[in-house]
Amino acid sequence: MTISIEEIRKDFPILDSGIIYMDSAATSLTPEPVLNAVQEYYRNYNANVGRGVHRLTQIASQKYEDAHRKVAKFIGAKPQEIIFTKNTTEGINIVASGIGLKKGDKVVFSLWEHHSNLLPWIRAKNKFGVELEVVKPIEGKDKTRCELEVSDFEEVIDERTKIVAITHVSNALGVMLPVREISRLCRENNTLLLVDAAQSVPHMPVDVNDLGCDFLAFSGHKMLGPTGTGGLAVKEELMEEIEPLTVGGGAVEDASFVDYSLTGTYERFECGTPNIAGALGLGAAVEYLEKIGMEKVKAREEKLGKQLIEGLQEMDQIEIYGYGSEAFELGRRIGTVSFTVQGMNSNDVAIRLDREAGIIVRSGHHCCIPLMKYLGLDAEGTVRASVYLYNTEAEVERFLEVVEKIGKG
Ligand SMILES: Cc1ncc(COP(=O)(O)O)c(C=O)c1O
Repeated sequence: MTISIEEIRKDFPILDSGIIYMDSAATSLTPEPVLNAVQEYYRNYNANVGRGVHRLTQIASQKYEDAHRKVAKFIGAKPQEIIFTKNTTEGINIVASGIGLKKGDKVVFSLWEHHSNLLPWIRAKNKFGVELEVVKPIEGKDKTRCELEVSDFEEVIDERTKIVAITHVSNALGVMLPVREISRLCRENNTLLLVDAAQSVPHMPVDVNDLGCDFLAFSGHKMLGPTGTGGLAVKEELMEEIEPLTVGGGAVEDASFVDYSLTGTYERFECGTPNIAGALGLGAAVEYLEKIGMEKVKAREEKLGKQLIEGLQEMDQIEIYGYGSEAFELGRRIGTVSFTVQGMNSNDVAIRLDREAGIIVRSGHHCCIPLMKYLGLDAEGTVRASVYLYNTEAEVERFLEVVEKIGKG
């Protein structure tokens, strides 16, 4: 079934205000079916889940389980392999603090990481004495492209590497790592692989088995779901190996005054009352994306992304960071573009885009201060425009017009 862009846009009431929303990499807009799922819970079966036997808890528990199943299927995981979290950050923290890191272990990540896939590992270094190794582009290459290839990882992943924790798509640059190939290196070295999929799960078909990762973390609010929702996929055989971040009600098989035993399922990670309405909203978001089809979402974004980058490439006063539009053909880019305007601070550009044309973009360091330092942009940061399934060619055209005008002073 083909759903037209007009039909899609009708589902996003916030667009009626006339804004041009190009900040979906930070958080996406929320369609009516997701809003309805959240409201329906509070209006019709507002009850706790997994507790008691009354009629309302039975409905709520069943819907919560259904949401688990839908989200697991969306990323090719088994229902018992998905933990609901409050966001990507929480998912990564669960792994970093729970996999039993110890002195002598090595953790590998890349220059592209978001702080959420950096700080948990720095804390592990300080706490457990693990060694950290950062994969950076080869010296002498064009710094603005920030190129990372599988060969750069080959040199650092070895038998001491306990885990490789990498982003699938850089939120600051919109460019992709060759995760499948890196996964092969991990297998050869008996190393775990965590993928920060905050910027991939919303934008393309993602399958945990196809990627070959042990852990995959993502956020609901970047994929049309409510804030405060997310998922961590964990390979089934590792589920019981990981120490949960928190323990308490809902996660327990048995307890005494001196001991407890946790359940063997994802419930061991979801103690306390979860974000039930949010989880149901996330389930509705996944259904919404599936109805359109992730291949179609990806293709549409690629079209808009190309228009965006190629338009910016034509402007003398603009510098783009990361790979150019040719990377779409290689499957190494999404419709998120970072750039600077000569002689201007990125926040000033973002303010002008908003005030003069109602165009909403992100500016600053994008929670990637080490990457910005590498690019020599720690003071001014970049402007980041990101498109999603509700954006149009006309919006991108308007964006390019306004950027050109701003660039001319
Ligand atoms: C690549 C990446 N990782 C992690 C995060 C953190 O996501 P959250 O704030 O939802 O935990 C983000 C958010 O922008 C991101 O883009």
